[in-house]
Amino acid sequence: MPSFPAPIESRLPNVGTTIFTVMSRLAQECGAINLSQGFPDFNAEDLLFERVAHWMRAGHNQYAPMGGVAPLREAIARKVADLYGTAYDPDSEVTVTAGATQALFTAVAALVHPGDEVIVFEPVYDSYAPAIELQGGRVVRLQLAAPDYRPDWDAVAAAITPRTRMIMINSPHNPTATLWSADDFARLAALTHGTGIVVVSDEVYEHIVFDGRRHESCARGPELAARSIVVSSFGKTYHITGWKVGYVVAPRELMTEFRKVHQFNVFTVNTPVQLALADYMADASRHAGLAAFYQAKRDFFRAGLEGSRFEPLASHGTYFQLARYDRISDEPDTAFVHRLTRESGVAAIPVSAFFADGRDDRVIRFCFAKNEATLAAACERLRRV
Ligand SMILES: Cc1ncc(COP(=O)(O)O)c(C=O)c1O
Repeated sequence: MPSFPAPIESRLPNVGTTIFTVMSRLAQECGAINLSQGFPDFNAEDLLFERVAHWMRAGHNQYAPMGGVAPLREAIARKVADLYGTAYDPDSEVTVTAGATQALFTAVAALVHPGDEVIVFEPVYDSYAPAIELQGGRVVRLQLAAPDYRPDWDAVAAAITPRTRMIMINSPHNPTATLWSADDFARLAALTHGTGIVVVSDEVYEHIVFDGRRHESCARGPELAARSIVVSSFGKTYHITGWKVGYVVAPRELMTEFRKVHQFNVFTVNTPVQLALADYMADASRHAGLAAFYQAKRDFFRAGLEGSRFEPLASHGTYFQLARYDRISDEPDTAFVHRLTRESGVAAIPVSAFFADGRDDRVIRFCFAKNEATLAAACERLRRV
């Protein structure tokens, strides 16, 4: 293949291969147990696959309406109203997306103008900053402090300027497994009150909260719901990350702008899969049972780490577990996870990868969305480190 005959001025000069790809590749090369990237190693229920096959055979294989098929938008609106008490209009305030990543990107592309400021909280999910920068927005990074990773609301207040267009939040939070409290959401509501700031609320782990805690959605309560684009992911909820289907709910005015971009960068999402998801959502226990399902895995994994030199931090939600390793090594976290993968056969993610300045608290992230056999084998190796 001949090479491109001119220099390319990159729109994202600082973006390389993500740490998730790097660690998954290294895990494969070394035959290591992969607790790095966030995806389950178990299958969804057969019924879901049967419903997809049903709708395919029934001839539902052409473009769906731009916002998503009606039964799925209706099921989403019903679920959100039941859980959080806000009634979104399925026709104009719910859109099915190609996963949460596309939803986040589209929300930013639709609303951020060049020179606008967007506040994010580090450690931050890797897609947020590139999405903002591609629109010419300025990323304003606030750091959550280890080990409890609470937001500093005085710092948020100080960071808000007349140029602040958007605040992107994520609770339950990847990678720290923390939840924002009702008080955090009240602070956010108070600080944005009377402004035109849009909140993009990444709630892909909304159903994975532990120990009887409640997920505080931006869709709960009129003040934040009125300024929020709430994003969720069927990939996380139904163990189908590879299907890349998610959704957003937002007030009509914001959704109108969202859809202007959505119709040209995606247009519409896989039709039979949407119809199957609508069927599957009819049983609320499928999402309501997720917290107990993952809490059992969290507890199994944490019990397996007992007797190791890793020090697990609290995990209140998501399917991640952070751990300190300073009793084992004083290496930087990236060097440590590479060595852990090669020498001990377990891959993890260094939390410094979620900070633009590489802040390194000597903390690494394990994903426990795995079968018990996988977790048991990993813990056995980790206890020998
Ligand atoms: C915080 C967060 N947001 C968004 C996503 C992406 O979700 P999806 O696979 O639906 O695009 C992930 C996936 O790991 C995530 O952890």
